[in-house]
Amino acid sequence: MNREEILKQAKEQFGKLVEKQLDRNEKIKADKDFLDYDKLDKIIIGIVGGDGIGPAITAEGHRVLEFLLQDKVESGKVEFRVIEGLTIERRAAEMKAIPDDVLAEIKQCHVILKGPTTTPRSGDKWPNIESANVAMRKELDLFANIRPVKVPEKGIDWTFFRENSEGSYALGSDGINITDEVAFDFCVATTEGSERIARAAFDYAKKTGKTKVTAVTKANVVKTTDGKFLNTCQQMQKEYPGIELDDWYIDIMTAKLIDEKRRTGFQVLVLPNLYGDILTDEAAEFQGGVGTAGSANLGKRYAMFEAIHGSAPRMVEEGRDKYADPCSVLRACVMLLEHIGEVEKAAKLEKALDTCMYTEKKLVITGRDTGATCSEFADYVMETVKKL
Ligand code: IPM
Ligand code: MG
Repeated sequence: MNREEILKQAKEQFGKLVEKQLDRNEKIKADKDFLDYDKLDKIIIGIVGGDGIGPAITAEGHRVLEFLLQDKVESGKVEFRVIEGLTIERRAAEMKAIPDDVLAEIKQCHVILKGPTTTPRSGDKWPNIESANVAMRKELDLFANIRPVKVPEKGIDWTFFRENSEGSYALGSDGINITDEVAFDFCVATTEGSERIARAAFDYAKKTGKTKVTAVTKANVVKTTDGKFLNTCQQMQKEYPGIELDDWYIDIMTAKLIDEKRRTGFQVLVLPNLYGDILTDEAAEFQGGVGTAGSANLGKRYAMFEAIHGSAPRMVEEGRDKYADPCSVLRACVMLLEHIGEVEKAAKLEKALDTCMYTEKKLVITGRDTGATCSEFADYVMETVKKL
């Protein structure tokens, strides 16, 4: 192709992406109201196992939720639906991030407990399709990814509000190879997208009596999109006079999380998608690793709860999936219970998890036959709940 043809093709491709993003912007602006769970006759909880160690650990989350919500199931206020088929094999066979029938079933639920799903990348044995996680966050417009990390003995109590629908992820699978030599990816920020995550972070700070929100960007270099994100946080702060806004760059922030004097000062952190992805893995490491961290993906209509880690296919290949750590999923169950208004049950499960994981430690998960299975550990957690 000559220069003119290359340019024409690139403009056409870019034009299509712009159109899609303009449509998305209109859609998120029109979508104002949050679903009110109190007004529902019944809350439908979908259980989606995913793949790798997903089915094994998610089944334990399901068991614990059934145990805690037994009264609500009996009175018809809660229904569980197990949704099969979000496996890498099905996704690869259909060349779709989420098979249509699976997505339709998911959309009939109100909240989802989801196991990890394998994310293909160029060069592995799967076709390089979009991540199921990313697709689900987009499809259900789950714009706020909330990831708490706590290490009480070190004074660490952080809640991350990761923007979950735009930034470098919005077009992560839609980059363009302009020529064989020149590749483009894109980063997208909208005013509405930045406002809704900033508001979620400030509202949470206000509700929980925190005094500071920290925005983490690279607005000195990524000036347009990160600039909009930071600027939006600064504007939002004006609506929350009791709460201070701190402004950090992602590079120094990764360093400051290991600075023992500085890190205890962070409370609520709000970040664009990619920085949120990276920083929350680092943060979870202080608490015992990604296997211990749960996360909530919240939108206005749907909510999805999951571990923050991947599907660990190697554990399955080595026949060790039954020894996988269910704690991340059980932490996600705490957040799910809180979200549907079961605050007491959430507190009980959280307390039992703290006892089993940190203080009593009658059973230990090692990821191999030297430790407990995930089922044994879930039994231990439920026995502990009964004693509370
Ligand atoms: C996460 C994961 C996902 C992400 C992957 C599996 C696509 O790392 O939830 O943090 O990058 O968001
Ligand atoms: Mg991640």
